[in-house]
Amino acid sequence: MQKERKCWLGLVAILVSVSLSGPLNGQQSLPNDSLKNVFRGDFLIGTALNTRQINATDGSTDELIKQQFNAITAENAMKAQVIHPRWGQFDFDAADRFVAYGNRAGMYTVGHTLIWHSQLPAFVQAITQADSLRQFMELHIRTVAQRYTSSIDSWDVVNEALNEDGSWRESVFYNVLGEDYIIEAFRMAAEAAPKAKLYYNDFNIERPRKRAGAIRLIKKLQAAGVRIDGVGIQGHWHIGKIPLDDIEQSILEYSALGLEVAITELDLEVLPRNFQGADINRRMVANDPALNPYVNGLPDSVQQQLAADYGRLFRLFLKHREHISRVTFWGVNDGHSWLNHWPVRGRTNYPLVFDRDNRPKEAFFKIIDTKKAP
Ligand code: XIL
Repeated sequence: MQKERKCWLGLVAILVSVSLSGPLNGQQSLPNDSLKNVFRGDFLIGTALNTRQINATDGSTDELIKQQFNAITAENAMKAQVIHPRWGQFDFDAADRFVAYGNRAGMYTVGHTLIWHSQLPAFVQAITQADSLRQFMELHIRTVAQRYTSSIDSWDVVNEALNEDGSWRESVFYNVLGEDYIIEAFRMAAEAAPKAKLYYNDFNIERPRKRAGAIRLIKKLQAAGVRIDGVGIQGHWHIGKIPLDDIEQSILEYSALGLEVAITELDLEVLPRNFQGADINRRMVANDPALNPYVNGLPDSVQQQLAADYGRLFRLFLKHREHISRVTFWGVNDGHSWLNHWPVRGRTNYPLVFDRDNRPKEAFFKIIDTKKAP
């Protein structure tokens, strides 16, 4: 009897606390639909995590991440500058916490990135001897990839090796080792991470000239007999200018080479820009307020354009779902996006599908609708 009463009291307490944790308590309620569930069976839905999110310091964002996404990429925690700041000295702190997050939440965990000319520590940029650079690559790839061999599902082995015209970017790796550095990087990664998928990742590689360069690069790896499993099209596009035909053609051409295709860093720029792409070393000098027009909110017409463009993109992704492994947004909500700081510092941008209060935007619903009315 006593026991039964306790039970009832317990139940009432739970009900009260559940109702208080809803909107009445000032907390944001989660959306009813979940991207990862809606697209389960089509492709993974990912997001990039910054350090605060890896540490789960903001409960509401943490809940949203777990409700909406089943894949995560470290926005910065695994870049060489962070993880390998001085020769042979590694700082695994943030990266360890990132993979622990993925393990705890049972999420597909993406390592970004092993070899990249940006966010590369100064000691590597200063290397001029082929042997030394090869040693660095070997040490870096072996140490990082082996450490996470049971927790990283996919590696962006090389990031952004190409120029816009499809020629080789003159990075320190290319300048010192020649174009075969890419073969060495993939070979080392295949040895160090035998179970992970290995990707080449770049922006604008849906565009014909750069795509042709990427195809040459992939064929070179395949001819050398080294493993490459996929291509990551970053997907930093601009509203009103989404190159849908180029994207479609690229999905077909890359998959015809036997590779899977992922959209790895999706966001849609809504602010003025005088160039397209995502070369983080390129910036616009700006003291013109016209470059930051939506400080007080996004006009409805732009919101609708953003939503329509996201809808078109996901319709295309669904059409080619058998070739697409994952679609990852570059950030959780608009407030977290790197596009608030690049290529112009201190702007108010709106490139994602959740607003600064973690509420789903029109674009979110348009994406969900592509499944309801394909
Ligand atoms: C960006 C991060 O989002 C920023 O926080 C950082 O300051 C610069 O790099 N292409 C990539 C990503 O492959 O690693 C970049 O991420 C965005 C462009």
